[in-house]
Amino acid sequence: MRVLIVSDLHANWPALEALREPHDVCLCLGDLVDYGCDPAPVIDWVRRHVHACVRGNHDHMVAQYVTTNGYSGFRYLSGVTRPVSQQRIEAEHRRFLADLPLTRFLTLGGKRFLLVHATPRDPLDEYAAADVDFWKRRIAGLGVDVVCVGHTHQPYVLQVEGTTIINPGSVGLPRDGDPRLSYAVWEDGRVTLHRAEYDVEQAVRRIQEADLPDQAKEMLACVLRHGSLHNGSQRTAPAPASNGTHSR
Ligand SMILES: [Fe+2]
Repeated sequence: MRVLIVSDLHANWPALEALREPHDVCLCLGDLVDYGCDPAPVIDWVRRHVHACVRGNHDHMVAQYVTTNGYSGFRYLSGVTRPVSQQRIEAEHRRFLADLPLTRFLTLGGKRFLLVHATPRDPLDEYAAADVDFWKRRIAGLGVDVVCVGHTHQPYVLQVEGTTIINPGSVGLPRDGDPRLSYAVWEDGRVTLHRAEYDVEQAVRRIQEADLPDQAKEMLACVLRHGSLHNGSQRTAPAPASNGTHSR
């Protein structure tokens, strides 16, 4: 069985439609919306193609009409793109996001999988680096063979006491210095991380056409083109400092 694992699509339709990976089953680890300008086609794709999906922090905030106030970096971008997310989805899309579970257990190819956006301890927000000791504490007693997580936009695979931790990175907004879309494939116990080119300039044009502040357009174009804000964290909007909360 060949399982395609995707996460953090972030309303980037040009990236998602470029994903051409043969698979039997597709799993999605959340964050379908925000940052990008095409939330509806991305949600529709997930509804059509994905076998199991969990809720990301951005899905939760859009579904529950949460506003984000941030004045620098990704928290700023999260706040200014939220109205675009809200304006460009229908009620059925919002219901789909609201109905997404925080965690999902399922068995594929005889192996027990746990899907969660961030970590089992804090399904929406905890930042989990590729750290064996950190993950030992998070998976104790779960009795699963594979844990699939997203949120960090940093792909990795870890082996932790018989459990495989898979973070496929981000399809829509890679942040590890490589702008190519990122995903993982699990096939009969073997995991591979993949990168694929897509039309980044099309995604940048979608941003530039949207009703967003010029500064946000510039920062998002930078992340899309370079996989990083570079010095973007030092680019601040004319307002008080951020509280520093992650907004992956
Ligand atoms: Fe994300």
